[in-house]
Amino acid sequence: MNAPRSSAQSQVSPARIRVFDTTLRDGEQSPGCSMTPPQKLVMARALAELGVDIIETGFPASSQSDREAMALIGREIRGPVLAVLSRCLRADIDTSLRALEAAARPRLHVFVSTSPLHREHKLRMSRQQVLDMAVESIRYAKQHIDDIEFSTEDGTRTEEDFLHEVVAAAIEAGATTINIPDTVGFTTPEEIRGIFQRLIAQVPGADRVVFSAHCHDDLGLAVANSLAAIEGGARQVECTINGIGERAGNCALEEIVMALKVRNAFFEADTGINTPRLVPTSQLLQRLIGMPVQRNKAVVGANAFAHESGIHQHGMLRHRGTYEIMRPEDVGWPSSQMVLGRHSGRAAVEQRLRALGYYLDERELELVFAQFKALCEQQRVVTDADLQALMQDAGEGEGYRLASMTVSDRGQRASATVELSDPEGRRVSETAEGDGPVDALFAALAAATGVQLALESYRVHSVGLGTDARGEANLSVRHGDDEYEGTGMSRDIIEASALAWLDVANRLLRQRRAAASEQLATA
Ligand code: KIV
Ligand code: ZN
Repeated sequence: MNAPRSSAQSQVSPARIRVFDTTLRDGEQSPGCSMTPPQKLVMARALAELGVDIIETGFPASSQSDREAMALIGREIRGPVLAVLSRCLRADIDTSLRALEAAARPRLHVFVSTSPLHREHKLRMSRQQVLDMAVESIRYAKQHIDDIEFSTEDGTRTEEDFLHEVVAAAIEAGATTINIPDTVGFTTPEEIRGIFQRLIAQVPGADRVVFSAHCHDDLGLAVANSLAAIEGGARQVECTINGIGERAGNCALEEIVMALKVRNAFFEADTGINTPRLVPTSQLLQRLIGMPVQRNKAVVGANAFAHESGIHQHGMLRHRGTYEIMRPEDVGWPSSQMVLGRHSGRAAVEQRLRALGYYLDERELELVFAQFKALCEQQRVVTDADLQALMQDAGEGEGYRLASMTVSDRGQRASATVELSDPEGRRVSETAEGDGPVDALFAALAAATGVQLALESYRVHSVGLGTDARGEANLSVRHGDDEYEGTGMSRDIIEASALAWLDVANRLLRQRRAAASEQLATA
């Protein structure tokens, strides 16, 4: 790699890199990734929304399904250039040109193998025959279409003098984009950078075309090699969402795009991608083909912005830049996620409790943290509901607790009786009537606690399935200028509602107590 350039040194405006998405062609042709034409259309809409420059929709000569997909996409998608792949054969080219008829901005992508291995064993052709085939096809296609991309399959394993000869001839014949594929993921960053530098410097007509890199991931180098190709002068990268593609896949779009964005000053290059659409687009593809990405996948994996170790969480709470080089929101995640588990420290637990409305003093936090650690011995991840259960068991910082309740709904009015233990451990019992069981219940709770809550919303839903199912009630209330939320969970939804009401009331009382002691301290 070249020595890193600092942003202060970088004066030139970034080069605009075209993003050529081949999810629907190279990605789709790999095992387990096939899509129907309507699914391809759904994906093409998402790719257009994402802002890719070129969508390769398929290989029309290979199947009726690819022809249908191209027709569907061509009729609807207007922004990006739409490309189809074709061998250097007249029949393939004719089929591709027909398939492209509906496209507003069509591109024909023709390819032929150029490496000695492919020439000898796959094509059984000489250098001259391969060169003639490329030139004839491009000349033929040029009579019908202007935007022609030419690919030298297995280009990175091709003798360099022959690669230069074919590329020069392709430009002369009318190709407008020259793509050098690393078909088997064999090259290295150093090597591919040199290949592009020399092509661009030495091939006649190189200044008239856009050079493109198409890297496969057999050695896990597809993104690094594509970045090196850009350093060598490539101005188009071919990639797929989630890196799907033949064998180990292609260069992952989300990774190369974010590498160029985050290290913009280093590469002096950027794309036109609408990055907050990266995660939704990745998730759409995962659902469409039923192939989830691994949790630790860069940018779009579930763990990409999750922090569990105590040291990392502590750092993150002080400054997110300590352990994050990009903002989750910038790639389409709602926010960073602090996963509470065995490795979490006191600071992260305290922060999560505060977010749930629990403000603990040092001694209380010590107790709850010990219980949290004990819980982590039994389960891998501790959720908000677990923390709330811990707080309930710990007496929720001395609030009201439900001892018993009865609700009856006979006749005109419903009535409810609640028995609570108050913060000092005394029993209080009240009965009230209301327009329905919940109304009566809330009135009885208000009478027993002396807290009046103006309900903003009340929701009950079921959590879990079968015999494990629980009712969860969520309340939000307005008190003065503040809004408070409470949750209660029980097998009985009326009891869950009572617990949610008390959750809010206790929070309010704790807040009042905290404000009162702060006032005393400053008086
Ligand atoms: O990997 C490859 O060589 C290809 C070409 C057909 C562009 O996908
Ligand atoms: Zn490929």
